[in-house]
Amino acid sequence: MSKRNEEFPAGFLWGGAMTASQTEGAWNTDGKGENLLDHLTAGSKKKERIFTRSIHPDYYYPNHEAIGFYHRYREDIALLAELGFTTLRTSIAWSRIFPNGDDSVPNKAGIEFYRSLFEEMKKNGIEPLITLSHYDTPISLMKRFNGWTDRRMIGFYLRYCETVMREYKGLVKYWIPFNETNVLGVASGWLLGAGMYPDSEESPLGMFTGSTVSENEAGIRWQALHHNLLASAELVPLAHSIDPENKIVGMIAGFSIYPYTPNPADVIAAQHAMLTSNYLCADVMVKGAYPAFAWSYFKEKKIDISCAEGDAETLKKGAVDVIAFSYYSSMCISADPKNMQNTGNMAMGLPNPHLVETEWGWTIDPLGLRYLLNDMYNRYGIPVMVVENGLGATDRVEADGSIHDPYRIAYLREHIKAMRAAIKDGVNLIAYTTWGCLDIISAVTGEMSKRYGFIYVDLDDEGKGSLNRSRKDSFYWYQKVIAGNGADLD
Ligand code: BG6
Repeated sequence: MSKRNEEFPAGFLWGGAMTASQTEGAWNTDGKGENLLDHLTAGSKKKERIFTRSIHPDYYYPNHEAIGFYHRYREDIALLAELGFTTLRTSIAWSRIFPNGDDSVPNKAGIEFYRSLFEEMKKNGIEPLITLSHYDTPISLMKRFNGWTDRRMIGFYLRYCETVMREYKGLVKYWIPFNETNVLGVASGWLLGAGMYPDSEESPLGMFTGSTVSENEAGIRWQALHHNLLASAELVPLAHSIDPENKIVGMIAGFSIYPYTPNPADVIAAQHAMLTSNYLCADVMVKGAYPAFAWSYFKEKKIDISCAEGDAETLKKGAVDVIAFSYYSSMCISADPKNMQNTGNMAMGLPNPHLVETEWGWTIDPLGLRYLLNDMYNRYGIPVMVVENGLGATDRVEADGSIHDPYRIAYLREHIKAMRAAIKDGVNLIAYTTWGCLDIISAVTGEMSKRYGFIYVDLDDEGKGSLNRSRKDSFYWYQKVIAGNGADLD
C-alpha cells in the first residue's frame, strides 16, 4: 500500500507536459496551416536547427510527423491515465484553428480535434492545462506581419483565444497564454521567437547572433515581448468573462542564478540577472506593471519600447491567477566580464563546481528548484505551478524490450523532494507537470534521442521507427509516486 501524506496538498495536480508541435505531427492534415516549427530542420548537440522559408524536399523536418499524437491520442491518454495523471499540459496549435492566424472562420476539423482530445482527458480524470502559444506562430502571420513585432498580432491572438475558450468552456479551465514568456527577453538572437520572418532562405534557429547582430536586436525582441504581455493582460478579463471558472496561468522559464563567488559584486550581478530574466516579465504578469528596475535595464541596454496610451491601464487589469515556471537547471554569474567570456548568452552562465551536468550540458540542481519556488511565492503570494522539469537523456531498449532509466528516476526524485521541502517552507504549490511525459521531439535540437518520457516512443533522429509506445521503469515509479501523493519516492 502506498503511504498517503499531507505534504503535497489534497487535490495536488500530478502529471506531465508537452506541446502540439512536438507531438501531434499531421502538420498539414485536416486543414491545418503551417507554423514556425513546421519549418525547422532536425539538428543535434553540435548542429543547430535551420529555419527554411520553403519546405525543402531533401531536408528532414521532425515536427511534421512528430510522434503521431494526432492519430494516437486515445491510446496515449489511456497510458497517461494508467500512470495516474490528474493533469496534462499540452498546447493548441493556433494554425490548426486558424490556418493563417487571422482567417474569418475557424477550421472545423481543428476545433473538433481538440474537443475530442479534451473530452478524452476529462473522461480519464485528467485536467487539461492548455498553453495557447508555444513557440508556434502561424507562418502566414510571420510572413505578413513579422509576427509579434507588429501590434496587430494582439487582436489576432485574442480572437483565436476567445474562439477556443468559448468552444471548450466547461472542458478547460487552466490556460497558459504564452510558453516561457520571458525567454524572448533573455535569449539574444531569438528573433524567430518574436515571429520575425527571416530575409534569407535558410537561417539558424538562433539567427542574428554573432557578427550579424543588429544594433536593435534586443529592442525588437522586447517590443514583441511587450505585445505578448499586453495580449496576456487583455486575455485575463476576457477569459474571466467567458467563464468565471477560467484561471490564467502566467508562465516564465525559471532561472535560478547564483553568484560565482561571495564577492559582493558577483552577488549584485546575480541579483540583477534574477530580476531581469525572471521577475521583469513575471512582475508585469502578476503585479500588472513593469517594475522600477525594468526602466533602468532598458536604458542600460538601449531598449526603447514603444507603448501606446492605455497600455499601463491594460496591464493593470491583467493580473494572472497563477504563476508557473519551467525548471531544468541553475547557473552562475560573475561580475567580471573576463569570466563571462565564452559563456555564450546569459542563458548558459558559468559552470558550477558543486553540480554535475546532463549529457546535453544542463546543470542538475534540485535545490535550485526549492530556491526558486520560495523566491517566487514570497514575491507574489499566489498559487504556483511547476509546469516543466525533467531529464533529457539517451535511453537503451534491452533485448526483452524493457527500458531501465534509473538516472531519470533519480533526477525526478530529487526534484520532487525539493518541491516537498518548498511546500514545508510555506509555498502554495498546486501542480507539477514533468516535461515530455512521452518521448517527444526536442525543441532546441529537433532530436528524438534526447528523451524525457516515462513512455518510450520508437522513433529515431531520422524519423524512422514504428512509433510504438512502451513503458520505462520510470513509468512504474512515477505511477507509485502519484498514487501516494508524493509520499513514497523510493
Ligand atoms: C522548454 C520548452 O524551454 O524546454 C520546451 O518549453 C522544450 O518546448 C523544453 O522542449 C526542453 O528543451 P529540449 O530542447 O530538450 O526539448
